[in-house]
Amino acid sequence: FPRPTLELIEGVPIINLFADNWAAIASFQARPDDLVICTYPKAGTTWASEIVDLILNEADPQKTKREAIYIRVPFLEFVAPGVPKGTTLLANAPSPRLIKSHLTVELLPKTFWENNCKIIYVARNAKDVAVSFFYFSQMARILPDPGTWNEFLEKYMAGDVSYGSWYDHVKGWWEKRNDPNVLYLFYEDMKEDLKREIRRILKFLGKDFVEDVLDRIVHHTSFKEMKQNSKSLYDKIPTHVMNHKVSPFLRKGITGDWKNHFTVAQNERFDEAYEKNMAGSSLHFRTEL
Ligand code: A3P
Repeated sequence: FPRPTLELIEGVPIINLFADNWAAIASFQARPDDLVICTYPKAGTTWASEIVDLILNEADPQKTKREAIYIRVPFLEFVAPGVPKGTTLLANAPSPRLIKSHLTVELLPKTFWENNCKIIYVARNAKDVAVSFFYFSQMARILPDPGTWNEFLEKYMAGDVSYGSWYDHVKGWWEKRNDPNVLYLFYEDMKEDLKREIRRILKFLGKDFVEDVLDRIVHHTSFKEMKQNSKSLYDKIPTHVMNHKVSPFLRKGITGDWKNHFTVAQNERFDEAYEKNMAGSSLHFRTEL
């Protein structure tokens, strides 16, 4: 399975598989009841997807466990085999659609804003994302070869990876945090108190669940439970595309794993670049809990 190349779409590196279909993505037709989960890769997309899908299915895992996560929450940019050229996977999906995207705030098709669609954005600290992205790039051949950890870290710091600069992504979406149709969540907050964050999602969606229903969602979306749920794991994707023996999709699910990977020198270099790129921003991340 050939590794993709990155092509610039309005300055953002996108894998050629998606870039080649850009016209269809850009002209995507949103529906007012579409709900979007948007993230920089490896920020907790799958986690948020399982939570929201359970919320939309009255917290009934029997319903959500019928299909794989990538069927229940289709990926906006994905060009699936068999989907006619010039269209997207989602064109004929029934409403209400729960949609996954990794697009920057600028690249997300305008039609989502025009239709006042609700968008949940999940952000995760730059260091843990780097580590998770490195392992994922090793196992998933729909991404460019990451090279060594040090080589990948250099590319990541330069924004020369799929979906570009982590800084631009999280800061761009942060500008929209006060939009009533946008909910900006943090992976670290979810790790700290998942129930509290699920309550925030419920409020955003205008829903209210009794305590034990809430507890059921918390239970089914713990790392341990999701790891045992084959419908969360992408494990039916052919191994020449995603090889879980190289690294599992649900790998560690913790905050602070970067400490096991960054050398002291890498960390100093990273912190210096981080300060520069985040200067003046009110956006703050925790890198340990
Ligand atoms: P790690 O590689 O650090 O383990 P995405 O879904 O955006 O690709 O993000 C994947 C990351 O989210 C992986 O991080 C994965 O383990 C983590 N993740 C998925 N489900 C989780 C859960 N229930 N709790 C904590 N982390 C989770």
